[in-house]
Amino acid sequence: MPRMPDARTPCPGAGTSAFHLRHGEVWCEAVPLRELARRFGTPLYVYSQAALAERFAVLRAAFGADAQICYAVKANPNLTLLRRLHALGTGFDLVSGGELRRLQAAGLPTARAVFAGVAKQAWEIEAAVAAGILFFVVETPAELPLLAGAAAAARRRVRVALRLNPGVAAGGHAYIRTASTDTKFGVDLGAAGAVVEAIAREPWLELCGYHVHLGSQVREVAPYAEALERVLAFVDAAPVRRDGVTCYDLGGGFGIAYGTGAPLDVHAVAAALRPALAARGWSPVLEPGRYLIGDAGVLLTEVLGEKQQPRTTFVLVDAAMNDLLRPALYQAEHPIVPVVADPAPPRPVDVVGPVCETGDFLARGRMLPPCRRGDLLAVLGAGAYGASMASTYNSRRRPAEVLVDGERVALVRRRETFAELFADEIDLHED
Ligand code: LLP
Repeated sequence: MPRMPDARTPCPGAGTSAFHLRHGEVWCEAVPLRELARRFGTPLYVYSQAALAERFAVLRAAFGADAQICYAVKANPNLTLLRRLHALGTGFDLVSGGELRRLQAAGLPTARAVFAGVAKQAWEIEAAVAAGILFFVVETPAELPLLAGAAAAARRRVRVALRLNPGVAAGGHAYIRTASTDTKFGVDLGAAGAVVEAIAREPWLELCGYHVHLGSQVREVAPYAEALERVLAFVDAAPVRRDGVTCYDLGGGFGIAYGTGAPLDVHAVAAALRPALAARGWSPVLEPGRYLIGDAGVLLTEVLGEKQQPRTTFVLVDAAMNDLLRPALYQAEHPIVPVVADPAPPRPVDVVGPVCETGDFLARGRMLPPCRRGDLLAVLGAGAYGASMASTYNSRRRPAEVLVDGERVALVRRRETFAELFADEIDLHED
């Protein structure tokens, strides 16, 4: 018997073969997206287990067995995804007491979690000390007495990584760059020596490393190398800055392609950093969010119609800025493809949602074939900072979320009910 030709072809812009075309339709692993839209309705986030596993394997291969890969929960905090990531081998990067509560709700260990954040409330510090985490990332000196007090009260030694601001400009949109001088993040290298000494004076605190998150959607290797170079120069200036240090947390920020150019070459980042780290006996800690989950998710949306204005064709869809804020907030460009390929010639359109704001767009000036009501579009690379930044603006229910694993499909967040939208409001029934 001749073998059947493989019917799979790459889906342009998808960044992973988990989302691909078969017979002119987009599939996620072994499931057609059209079937998921029919079954769960739209807007709908669809995640691929295979894509998650594939990205985790790339990071593990690049950085080696001694690297702690702490998934940045903020990118997508869904409990099932956290469990799946833990099963793959990640720890977690937390930025709030709420994220800690999520780990606990998922029944996951906190021992490989790091807790960052420019400002933490007392209860958040106390909860993380009680839970027992890998280390706190401290970047605001005023937090030290709070942390030292919580550690003393719990009679637990607490490990601290000091977040430095190396003064390196890197990352995508200005709102997601964190390591240039005069952002609120990290401690300026000129002020950090005194903070190291303050940590050394605290009997319940232990300096275990340095943390340098550059920003998000970084696609070049050089800023990672430059940041480490500056940190090493800082560390070499006084022995107290080296005492007890065992790790270097390079943060996350690993950029993905979003349909243009190349993702960050994580092997090249590892190759640039590992020799210097190994020479000091330091192990790397990574905090990837987008790199793990970004390409592993798409937002499925249904076309409600088209509308022609004098100079612009609008494709009106049922997903909006409340479902995926990134285009409106950062002018982010997510590839958008018809779920069922259409050979008709494409023309430039704006893809917009029903929300009452001109800033409510998913894409502008994008080439798409004519769209009819009921057609489906897939917004690609939407797994990170999509569902996690969704809101109920315009009293819209947030999208449901499903996880595909081979042929298996699981609803991992149902669409909320309208009653739930206002369940927490206290209606005073005033006349
Ligand atoms: N570590 C720290 C300390 C962070 O602040 C962040 C992200 C990460 C790790 C993970 O970064 P990632 O690997 O995902 O780039 N909402 C924005 C991104 C904000 C990122 C905030 N911090 C967006 O949609 O592009």
